[in-house]
Amino acid sequence: MAEKTKSGVPGLDEALHGGFPKGSVILISGGPGTGKSILMNQFLANGASQFKEPGVLVSMEETLTSTIRNMKQFGWDLQELMDKGLIALVDASPMIQNERVVLKPEHPVLGREEFTMESLLSLIHREIRRVKAKRVAIDSISTLTLQHKDLFRIRHDLLNMVRSLRMSQATCLVAVESPTGDSIGRFDVEGFLMDGVIMMKLMSQGTVRIRTIEIGKMRGTSHQMNPLLLIIGEKGMQVSDLPPIQ
Ligand SMILES: Nc1ncnc2c1ncn2[C@@H]1O[C@H](COP(=O)(O)OP(=O)(O)OP(=O)(O)O)[C@@H](O)[C@H]1O
Ligand SMILES: [Mg+2]
Repeated sequence: MAEKTKSGVPGLDEALHGGFPKGSVILISGGPGTGKSILMNQFLANGASQFKEPGVLVSMEETLTSTIRNMKQFGWDLQELMDKGLIALVDASPMIQNERVVLKPEHPVLGREEFTMESLLSLIHREIRRVKAKRVAIDSISTLTLQHKDLFRIRHDLLNMVRSLRMSQATCLVAVESPTGDSIGRFDVEGFLMDGVIMMKLMSQGTVRIRTIEIGKMRGTSHQMNPLLLIIGEKGMQVSDLPPIQ
């Protein structure tokens, strides 16, 4: 069995029969508010604080300032982890507002004419080397629609990204916002380009709404097949079996 990278999310590693296969590139697909960013930050924060595995967070959507603030409520102090050299933060957000980021002309900011996937990947690799990252989270690729009108160019960028992330040998989570509850990704190719797919959903059951998480595929390991219940609490998320439908 391949070596595993534990997410540290209670219940998820058990469902993955030990964790994500080390070095794989995994799509985290779900609609708005389904918990993609929380999952990715929990993966990085646990890596840095429990498993001695530094990580790189690449913000391509929400600004880093907002991510740092939102994750503090769960006890994950990204700023502190960054100061300790356990996490590197790459801000490629189209709404960049972090005054600590000094924007050089070559800094890849989505939506700008001079943005290229190559420049973003070279910055990501520089940060992976700097902190010796074993984990990477890209949040999210949905904003590539701001860069290219043309689906062909987006797919080409994605292919480059997946190839290049694989070479880093870090375990990588890549978020994408799926436009409908049942679709995987939004550019048609993500599901087969990546080594694994996790689907996150919000569902109505009578008068209550529940969150679910499902392992769609995971090359190199067996895993639980059934949708699982996801609960977001004070310390982040946890996964357990779905209660039987009444
Ligand atoms: N402290 C908390 N306790 C419980 N639930 C919370 C808490 N903080 C946030 N949430 C829930 O998590 C959701 C946000 O999760 P997250 O940011 O991970 O979603 P996302 O899938 O990344 O969304 P988007 O596509 O908008 O980026 C909120 O909409 C809210 O329902
Ligand atoms: Mg998000």
